[in-house]
Amino acid sequence: MNIVTCSYGNPVGEHIREILNGNMVNVIIKKFPDGEIYLRIVDELKPDVPVIIINTTINTEAVLEMAFAIDAVKRFHVKKIIAVTPYFGYGRQDKQFLPGEAISASVIARMLTDGVSDFIMVEPHSDYIKKYFDCKVHIVSAASAIFEKFKDKIDLVVSPDKGGIGRAATVGKLLNTQYTYLNKKRISSYEVAMEFTDNISMNGKKILIVDDLVSTGGTIIKASELIKKAGALEIHVACTHGLFIDNSGYKISRVVDSLNTTDTVQTPYSTIPISKYIARSIEKAVDS
Ligand code: R5P
Repeated sequence: MNIVTCSYGNPVGEHIREILNGNMVNVIIKKFPDGEIYLRIVDELKPDVPVIIINTTINTEAVLEMAFAIDAVKRFHVKKIIAVTPYFGYGRQDKQFLPGEAISASVIARMLTDGVSDFIMVEPHSDYIKKYFDCKVHIVSAASAIFEKFKDKIDLVVSPDKGGIGRAATVGKLLNTQYTYLNKKRISSYEVAMEFTDNISMNGKKILIVDDLVSTGGTIIKASELIKKAGALEIHVACTHGLFIDNSGYKISRVVDSLNTTDTVQTPYSTIPISKYIARSIEKAVDS
């Protein structure tokens, strides 16, 4: 298979190429003097060879690059195009929370599915966004990758909000530990309030906090402080995607024993490799 990576597609793209023994396609991405993005696929692509296009759509430019790569590949009449966004940006605005709002997730899904047969992403904020894609959607879970890193090291798995209880349950079952969630109330983009929901003791325990995303870090810092006060022995964090706005990685690392994310977004905290799980999903999509 042929693999196309854009500016935010590596190192996951390169790992996937190695695992699947694919061919990395030569791509030129540059900017015109006015800042507009230019993309060209340099190699000739054969219509019968599936093409996998990989980019973490962490910002607006990355979204555009991905759309341009899909368009360029389509122009070779490739029959099977699989789009992979290890982290799918704009996924949080997945419905109208207030009248008049744009549903960003829907707009981006439409932009990135023209000519695409399968779309693969690692744990979007909510599976709900699947309905916006006009192709098959495959969601890769980070649970097994988290399990591999924390096997035999944890007593209790905690989700910092009710929405993440499914993730905590999956990881807890793999680790063979109890799991629970906290009550979170968002006060502003930067501030949250948090409280316990049950009487599970944290005292003397090694706790793993799991979440889909770290942005400002407010959620993880509040959860860690609460758990620490309750007497936890160790606090580890495993988040799927690390955006780390405003140096929040540093702020979190001061209050926890270890801070870990998968490598869907590359940061100093990307210690949980996810490529092998994405590669499995690609193999299934190619065969489907
Ligand atoms: C919210 O529902 C998500 O699961 C994350 O907890 C949230 O997006 C994290 O944001 P922040 O790091 O800014 O608190």
